[in-house]
Amino acid sequence: MIEPSFGNFTKYAEINWGDGRGKIIEAGRGLTLSLDNSSGSGFQSKNDFLFGRFDIQLKLIPNNSAGTVTTFFLASQGSAHDEIDFEFLGNSSGEPYTVHTNVYAQGKGDREQQFKLWFDPVATFHTYSIVWNSQRIIFLVDNIPIRVFNNNGAFGVPFPTNQPMRVYGSLWNADDWATQGGQVKTNWTQGPFVANYRNFKINACASSSSSNGTCVSGSGDPFSNQSWQTQELDANGRNRLRWVHQKYMIYNYCTDFVRFPQGIPAECKRSRF
Ligand SMILES: *[C@@H]1O[C@H](CO)[C@@H](O)[C@H](O)[C@H]1NC(C)=O
Repeated sequence: MIEPSFGNFTKYAEINWGDGRGKIIEAGRGLTLSLDNSSGSGFQSKNDFLFGRFDIQLKLIPNNSAGTVTTFFLASQGSAHDEIDFEFLGNSSGEPYTVHTNVYAQGKGDREQQFKLWFDPVATFHTYSIVWNSQRIIFLVDNIPIRVFNNNGAFGVPFPTNQPMRVYGSLWNADDWATQGGQVKTNWTQGPFVANYRNFKINACASSSSSNGTCVSGSGDPFSNQSWQTQELDANGRNRLRWVHQKYMIYNYCTDFVRFPQGIPAECKRSRF
């Protein structure tokens, strides 16, 4: 079976920030981002997309990563933007990373869910995926769904449906909030901090060709695997999601009644997940 895209950073991505701190390595198979006390770094996809499935493998900063945030996300340009975020909040040595997720639609976010992981994300590479189709957004870790955000547009809940998004990765300092609520600061003597990315895969509809219905991988290669376009959770997926939510979820905006005294957001009432 031919892979729709080969995870090649040279072909699909470019370093967009960090003055040499971001590097494409191993003939495009890998990419490293680094952060020191003067700057972080980042990359972006060369194209933007209207719906797709985006996979990346990540090995996070080892040892003391407190204060740092490593990201993998989609975002549109301009105001009232859409965004789908994976953010990995670092921690002191031996303390667990937090996986922070959020969805912005038409400029409005405030939809955070946070998780711990069931493995050590600094020891080896793991796969983090965003599926974005017209019906739902699915966040996956090693192909296990951790979050589903359904399109409840019919009930007045904004959902990203018409602004093309680009794929981004970045590593930056956020020690004013990221770790233990901002109490633990970045220890610059431990730097530079390095996050490793590899195997970047795009199965998506390029925004320029979506109008004639042609979906392509990031470089314009034709591809056959379009199952992401209708991807949803089957019974097994729903079981895995329940398992993650019961054992590993540490924050859910849908149950934050203090934060939403007027009532929790509409989408929380509509879907079980
Ligand atoms: C860091 O570790 C502490 C203590 O185990 C934990 O409460 C916290 O959620 C972890 N993550 C972050 C980002 O602070």
